[in-house]
Amino acid sequence: MNAHDSEKVVGTLVNEGYAQVATPEEAGLVLYNTCSIRDKAEQKVFNRLQNFKRAGKGKIFGVLGCVAQQEGEKIFERAPHVSLVAGSANYHQLGQMLVQLEMGNRRVTGLSFENAEAFDTPFTRRDNPHRAFLTIIEGCDKSCAYCVVPFTRGPERSRTSDSVMAEARGLVEKGYTEVQLLGQNVNSYRDPSPAGWDFAVLLSRVAEIPGMRRVRYTTSHPRDFVRPIVDAMDANTVICDHIHLPVQSGSSRVLAAMDRLYTREEYMRRIEWIKNAKRRYSLTTDIIVGFPGETDADFQQTLDLLDEVQYDSLFSFKYSPRPNTAALHMEDRIPEEEKSRRLAIVQEKQRAIQIRRNADLVGTIQEVLVEGRNTALNQWVGHTTCHRTLNFSHTAGDERDLAGTYLSVRVNRAGPNSLVGETATVV
Ligand code: 5AD
Ligand code: SF4
Repeated sequence: MNAHDSEKVVGTLVNEGYAQVATPEEAGLVLYNTCSIRDKAEQKVFNRLQNFKRAGKGKIFGVLGCVAQQEGEKIFERAPHVSLVAGSANYHQLGQMLVQLEMGNRRVTGLSFENAEAFDTPFTRRDNPHRAFLTIIEGCDKSCAYCVVPFTRGPERSRTSDSVMAEARGLVEKGYTEVQLLGQNVNSYRDPSPAGWDFAVLLSRVAEIPGMRRVRYTTSHPRDFVRPIVDAMDANTVICDHIHLPVQSGSSRVLAAMDRLYTREEYMRRIEWIKNAKRRYSLTTDIIVGFPGETDADFQQTLDLLDEVQYDSLFSFKYSPRPNTAALHMEDRIPEEEKSRRLAIVQEKQRAIQIRRNADLVGTIQEVLVEGRNTALNQWVGHTTCHRTLNFSHTAGDERDLAGTYLSVRVNRAGPNSLVGETATVV
């Protein structure tokens, strides 16, 4: 979402007459977009700003994103050469804020959630020419005990279905064939216009746009992941064979402490829908280890869950205390070394699972959207609909640029994180 926010900010500014330059050294205005989901992101931002302090004479500096929202005007005290601080809910006013700076104002902020609206910009500058991000909902109304997002991105705001559909059609007209619908919790999408579409309907309608080849979405919240979403996926193969369903923990006790609003059993019911669906869907998740109070037995339940579900891939994190969150003052903090130990165990177990899951694909033919070429290896690289990276060789002598095309590729080998193959048909 942050990467896409940057694309929107760049597009908006270019539309207002600013020009993008290749390096910060060449820029008159330097905007740092920041994330504060984990770790000491704040510290990293201040270090970067510090590095620029000397070299940056005469430049205007701004801090955007979650660190801006979280630290607010404190940023001016710690980094006095910064003159703009704005959170994502205020990006639609960035143009006006920059005008104030150009008029000589030294301190401009955009930190309120009051007029928060989805940042609907037709001028987005997308980095990738074939796969596009498309925001359908911003902010989050959940209150997971570890998570800073509701404080940094504000309350949930859905875009109207008309506006989403117009952007999606526009993307196809520009030549994009893969679209990824984005939101902190896309499942709670609710069209604010009278049409009143829910997420399953929106997903189906986007996938039905003529010329659309692939539609993905991220991210889901298991509580709001309802059966009609699986039905919509089953009904239209344009919707990719991949579901990211963050579980966070395999222990119902820890899930309750996290305020995740589902038990392990309720989560597993959703996994059953997915496993019993018409197509085979690739399943991925997020895991947090070392949440306050997580016992060995709780942790063991997470490991058991990984055995039971057999995810195709996962992201795992050590719990990191975040400002304003409910978990910040919880007792029974897990020592850092223990968190690291648990993380390593999760990752090792998952690696073995992935080796097996990927090996199952050897001998199959997968359709890839080609993204680029690795000239050193003389291989092309693309993604399958199930979101695996597939490196492949292509007919010797065919020197065409294949980026952006769809090819059938035979999988010959598999590693824990990617597949290797060769084109199955000559195009
Ligand atoms: N500590 C560790 N991991 C976190 N995540 C979110 N907040 C925290 C935190 N405070 C993880 C969750 C979420 C993913 C995007 O980041 O697993 O799903
Ligand atoms: Fe954070 Fe929970 Fe909202 Fe996801 S659903 S953004 S984890 S508060």
